[in-house]
Amino acid sequence: MSHLLPLSRVVKLVGQPRHALQEMIRSGTLATFDGMVELDELLRAFPEVKWDDDAEFRRVAEIKDKAFARRVRDLVLPDKEVLAARLNELGADYAAAKSLLQHYGNVMVWLDEKIDEIEEDKSAETRHALHTLRAFLLRNLAEMPPDAVLAQAAIAQERILKVMSAHVTIQPSGHEFFVEGNDTLLDAALRNGVSLSYGCSNGNCGDCRARLVSGEVKKVRAHDYVLKQADKDAGAILLCAYAPVNDVVIEANVAGAHDIQMQRLGAKVKSVEMFNSQMAALHVLTPRSQRLRYLGGQSIEVSIDGVRGRYAIASCPCEDRNIELQIPHRPGDAFAEAVFTTLKAGDAVALEGPFGEFVLDEDSPRPAIFLAFGVGFAPIKSLIQHAMSLELVESMDLHWLADAAGHYQDNLCRTWADALDNFNYVPHAATDELEAVLKGIVVDYPDLHRFDVYAAGTAAQLELARAHFVRQGLPEVRWFAGATDIY
Ligand code: FES
Repeated sequence: MSHLLPLSRVVKLVGQPRHALQEMIRSGTLATFDGMVELDELLRAFPEVKWDDDAEFRRVAEIKDKAFARRVRDLVLPDKEVLAARLNELGADYAAAKSLLQHYGNVMVWLDEKIDEIEEDKSAETRHALHTLRAFLLRNLAEMPPDAVLAQAAIAQERILKVMSAHVTIQPSGHEFFVEGNDTLLDAALRNGVSLSYGCSNGNCGDCRARLVSGEVKKVRAHDYVLKQADKDAGAILLCAYAPVNDVVIEANVAGAHDIQMQRLGAKVKSVEMFNSQMAALHVLTPRSQRLRYLGGQSIEVSIDGVRGRYAIASCPCEDRNIELQIPHRPGDAFAEAVFTTLKAGDAVALEGPFGEFVLDEDSPRPAIFLAFGVGFAPIKSLIQHAMSLELVESMDLHWLADAAGHYQDNLCRTWADALDNFNYVPHAATDELEAVLKGIVVDYPDLHRFDVYAAGTAAQLELARAHFVRQGLPEVRWFAGATDIY
């Protein structure tokens, strides 16, 4: 009886990133069957994994959390009704497996009796053959196969994952993520950087309405928005109020930059982080009941007492209510002056946005080159973190061409490179010879036609870089640029 596992669960079980497993499948070192991996194949391909706990997965997750400065979440149990339903399902699985075993036991008894019957009136030769057959069956039933202990541990680990989390596939976009703890479908999607459409996030507006295609969900939060019985019969659910019981497929709209409406909300300053005399980060926290909807790479306007400025968001949309803005100390920028002199934790600020269309192409699994010119690092940082949370991009190379503010988050970039095997970081010192640097970068990519390039800098820097990359073979449509001198 073969035990098949979906690739998304194998990712969790072996603690390897999805792109690494996909590479193994492409190269033939990991066999799949209809996108599933057989348990025996899993044990063969990963002989070194310790199946008795999920330490490897937690270790990798912790490295990523630290590298991306995420708040490490406590292990939270699912909602009690969801938990009860999952345990019920597990109980049904166990009962089915037990009755199958009982059936096999009965077949063995029947076979034994049959052999007795046949032995009575057959030749000595036949009796000897039947005797040998019986001995073979009894010996093999008594002996456990050598990898049975590993197989049991792997299955047990997979069962625990199934109780603690459920896998979600979004159609038609193909995004995938896990819902863990007591998150709703919407909470988990946002935490994983998937920008599903929503409005109030507390059951009032109906904007997060979606359709359950397969699997089972349970309502875990009350909602005032009324779903008519006919809608429910057609599979309608509210993403902000439901959680999956088992692995589900949901039909839902993933928002692009055009779909996200302008928002205005108040926020509190959490901290001001001074990188150096030219560059600071402003960390703000939105109210518990309100998130700012945005995509990695966008910008927002922030103001205090009528003094305002527009800056790149440097955080990931998956960071919930926490937003980081990076603020260059430019002459004549009154808001930046306040950040560098008087603004402090607890101050109230107003946010308006998001602006801009410099966002990830979430349909592209191509390797990506990120090109940050000076303070263009801010939107690039946001894009990189967003790409990481989506786990879509095959590999990421970051080239940071410094200006007078320097590589003010150099350590962070090096941590990313240390933590992630598909991430490379190349810092380039501040120079007047920009052309020479760009030439040096593109010659390292003889196969530029395979890449996407995301670049952020001034309009002049971007135009120069675009010309170099396109001349070297990058398709024009795979060049994505965000100008920083429009803020
Ligand atoms: S977001 Fe408003 S009802 Fe779900």
